[in-house]
Amino acid sequence: MSGPNSNYDPVEVAPLHPEEVAAMRADAIAAIEAAATLDELKAVRLAHAGDRSPMSLANREIGALPPQARKEAGMRIGQARGAVSQALGRRAAVLEAEAEQRMLAEETVDVTLPYDRDPRGARHPLTTLQERIGDVFVAMGWEVAEGPEVEAEWLNFDALNMGEDHPARSLQDTFFLEPQDAGIVLRTHTSPVQARTMLSRPPPVYVVCPGRTYRTDELDATHTPVFHQVEGLAVDKGLTMAHLKGTLDAFATAIFGAGVTTRFRPSYFPFTEPSAEVDLGCFVCRGREPAVTSCRTCKGEGWIEWGGCGVVNPRVLVACGVDPATYSGFAFGMGIDRTLMFRHGVEDMRDMVEGDVRFTLPFGMEL
Ligand code: PHE
Repeated sequence: MSGPNSNYDPVEVAPLHPEEVAAMRADAIAAIEAAATLDELKAVRLAHAGDRSPMSLANREIGALPPQARKEAGMRIGQARGAVSQALGRRAAVLEAEAEQRMLAEETVDVTLPYDRDPRGARHPLTTLQERIGDVFVAMGWEVAEGPEVEAEWLNFDALNMGEDHPARSLQDTFFLEPQDAGIVLRTHTSPVQARTMLSRPPPVYVVCPGRTYRTDELDATHTPVFHQVEGLAVDKGLTMAHLKGTLDAFATAIFGAGVTTRFRPSYFPFTEPSAEVDLGCFVCRGREPAVTSCRTCKGEGWIEWGGCGVVNPRVLVACGVDPATYSGFAFGMGIDRTLMFRHGVEDMRDMVEGDVRFTLPFGMEL
């Protein structure tokens, strides 16, 4: 005789046995604890809690059990799954915190490291000296004027009383721009800026014109076809050679130090009359005997040739629209490259044009 046996739990579903469930749960928890990274934990989650994990598969068998057994097995497996899910959550939290710590450690920025390992450049000492000279004159109430490097031949020569037969106009000294009869040159001095200034406004005029100039010289230790000049021009009522001397003394002292003297030697320039060469008393040996004979800066002369100067030729004033009956003026011009050479003991001009930072750096970053 047979009858219903549901109350006696005759249906056996092996995976739902308490030992089996406990073993699956223990396996899962061991695997979770063993996961060393979030990726590993992901794989463990799939293997032990995914749709095809032993526990999920066992869960599906619950329906095959009679009610009483279903309830017990459901509770058992539900608890096991809950425990696994909690273990996964805890482990994930631990691993995430570890990963974050690692990231913080690995991505730490060492703020004490040099932020910029590119070698530094430096401003060129010719630029800083040029600016310094400008400052000296601005402090005396003068203005700094600029003009084009590509200049009209008329302003570079004619306006300055350098007639067509003047030797400086020959092809040997001057870069002419093509076509040659266009009357355009690379300025051979900064004097055309003075002419431009006088033509642009009435006196009084007190300007310095620092800038780049060009002559057809070969580059060697003492010549360069591209060099720098600073010229000064003052036009006012009653200016004399004495004002010129005082101005140059102030200029020399500002650049070479207190106590430096200047002297004038008679000379000739078409644009000044009278004209003079201006020499600096050697600021290294100060012209003292017997050190004089061995001084490398002045070669034992006691004096260094610095530039040219003079009282502006009335013909230049007329050419530039200034009445010489009312106004007079003085002018001077120095090579900035030469000034840098003897101010700093630079022995080879080529060092100044090569752009090697080993030359410019020792002058510092002066602005
Ligand atoms: N312009 C002259 C030169 O380049 C220098 C100079 C300027 C001389 C002003 C006298 C007056 O040689």
